[in-house]
Amino acid sequence: MSPFSLTRTLPEDATDAALRADVLQGLAATPKTLPPKWFYDARGSDLFERITELPEYYPTRAEREILIARAGEIAAASGARTVVELGSGSSEKTRHLLDELTDLHTYVPVDVSESALSQAGRALIAERPGLHVHALIADFTAGLTLPDTPGPRLVAFLGSTIGNLLPHERATFLKSVRALLAPGDALLLGTDLVKDESVLVAAYDDASGVTAEFDKNVLAVINRELGGDFDLDAFTHVAVWDAGNEWIEMRLRARAAQTVKIPALGLVVDFAEGEFLRTEVSSKFREQGVRRELAEAGLELTHWWTDAAGRFALSLSTPR
Ligand code: SAH
Ligand code: AVI
Repeated sequence: MSPFSLTRTLPEDATDAALRADVLQGLAATPKTLPPKWFYDARGSDLFERITELPEYYPTRAEREILIARAGEIAAASGARTVVELGSGSSEKTRHLLDELTDLHTYVPVDVSESALSQAGRALIAERPGLHVHALIADFTAGLTLPDTPGPRLVAFLGSTIGNLLPHERATFLKSVRALLAPGDALLLGTDLVKDESVLVAAYDDASGVTAEFDKNVLAVINRELGGDFDLDAFTHVAVWDAGNEWIEMRLRARAAQTVKIPALGLVVDFAEGEFLRTEVSSKFREQGVRRELAEAGLELTHWWTDAAGRFALSLSTPR
């Protein structure tokens, strides 16, 4: 095998069919909603990287702090020869962990964003001659088939991307991750923690407007891929803390009544003034809840580490 390979696990028209189905279903729902995975075309992936550098967006810095402090312990506990990373994006923080894994053979980054995967994968093999990088363009909620690589395997799911799944989706997803693990394998999970509402809202509605641009990018994706005529300026980005569900909700609110046409779907969608489209939930977690959700999927939490300020947690769990 060459040291870098990029495999598409679904035909390109499957992505197209999935986008069509999600837009048809989501824009017919009340309230209107779209799944967050459609943010991440090349521009969306770049905008996300800019978000990680914003002063208000603490999760990336907090998780990096934990990874730097704990990478040695994680490496010793897992002894991984293969690291599979779900929603790997730029793989930037993961480098701290890869550096400590002395017997690492293969890194398998998995993402829907081809641009993020090819940039990250090529940079990694240039930095680490000898490491095999087997990148997978795949939807991690759609049932993964992993390459046959040496164990033990560490599945990493960082950034609190798990929080972008709804609770029932998380339960299904965690069971599918459990099914990928053999005895001796482990899951490394990043979870953002419940905290003061003002800190959370600022993290999802930054002063410089990068998150607003990221949020509206999903409309640009629909315009480009499905010939839609969304006017991005006709929507306002809003971040709301839902205290009952303990999640941040990102919404695009129609500034005025308007009609949007999506010719590829034969769809005409009316928005009332002030009506919103939910584009993302970002759940925030507590230790007991993470432990319970993992246990319900057949995983036992063995380690729980937070940053010094207690904003973010990394946990390690193993199959029961
Ligand atoms: N793990 C990185 C990136 C987080 S951004 C970090 O912690 O900084 C979320 C990443 O998950 C993006 O790269 C996005 O393209 C990817 N993603 C979102 N939904 C996905 C899905 N359903 N399947 C695969 N990748 C997905
Ligand atoms: C990828 N994911 C964990 C980010 C989050 O914080 O929920 C996506 C994001 N949305 C707005 N800002 C960042």
